[in-house]
Amino acid sequence: MKKNIIAVLGSANIDLVIEMSRFPNPGETVTTKTFARYPGGKGANQAMAAARMGGEVSFYGKVGKDFFGSELLQSLRENGVNVEAVEQTQESPSGTTSIWVAGNGENAIAYAPGANALVDEAYVDSVLSGLMAAKIILLQFETPLKTISYLLHRLPQRNPLVILDPAPVQDISGLPLARVDIITPNRGELTALTSEEDVEKAAHKLLDLGVKRVICKDGENGSYLIDRNNFRHFASFPVDPVDTTAAGDAFNGTLAVALAEGRSIEEAIKWANAAGALATTRKGAQPSLPSLSEVKEILSKRGIET
Ligand code: RIB
Repeated sequence: MKKNIIAVLGSANIDLVIEMSRFPNPGETVTTKTFARYPGGKGANQAMAAARMGGEVSFYGKVGKDFFGSELLQSLRENGVNVEAVEQTQESPSGTTSIWVAGNGENAIAYAPGANALVDEAYVDSVLSGLMAAKIILLQFETPLKTISYLLHRLPQRNPLVILDPAPVQDISGLPLARVDIITPNRGELTALTSEEDVEKAAHKLLDLGVKRVICKDGENGSYLIDRNNFRHFASFPVDPVDTTAAGDAFNGTLAVALAEGRSIEEAIKWANAAGALATTRKGAQPSLPSLSEVKEILSKRGIET
């Protein structure tokens, strides 16, 4: 039995992706270019991203007892993620998204949580020992906020390290943010959470709420690390992006593995930036997540020791 080092509590969705030259207006039909179905969901993506980086990963959540649910579990298993604690429920279909990707790369997502909405306090209680045995826990906002809040209250004060991806953005005012070690919004999310455009000022608003560190993901501009003593920028990696879906998930999963392996936060962010950039070079969510060798290659090209 593998030691459970990284635990991801989160969503698993089947993404139904339609590429189109432009988004339709209300009441209008646009004839599209392609349709594809990919396994996705922020939680499942982050679990797989971490597993592809060599992490020992367990995923916690719920899927429906349906075709999509089986496909989601199979995709995670095939990539080495432990899904023993995932519940396949009869009570709801699996989570799904409808993703529109326009010719300019812009996307719009409609999310139907399905079984993800049933990840409740009782489920957390049933898997708490597994979660607490992890070194790092990854959380996102496709899981009910009430459940995340409950889990944060149940965790011991220090360990495991908690990384929270506040996506899609929700009101965080009721969360015990002092139990969050690292929050990883993208730039738009950081502004939405704080009503502040300036990255450093916005991050300090989150620090004032109790979060220990803020990492702001800023796409092709790289990322920022902000804590009480630092404001540091990390450059991105030049790539030709075709689809940004799951880039943030690649970032978070990789960040967790690098930290679990004992790398410094600065080093871990460089690894995460590399993985995030690579994820934009392929279409879809889980199929776009990079391998460890791809990440090492892009890091070495920049002279970063791996
Ligand atoms: O972060 C990308 C994911 O978010 C997609 O896989 C989709 O499921 C959406 O919810």
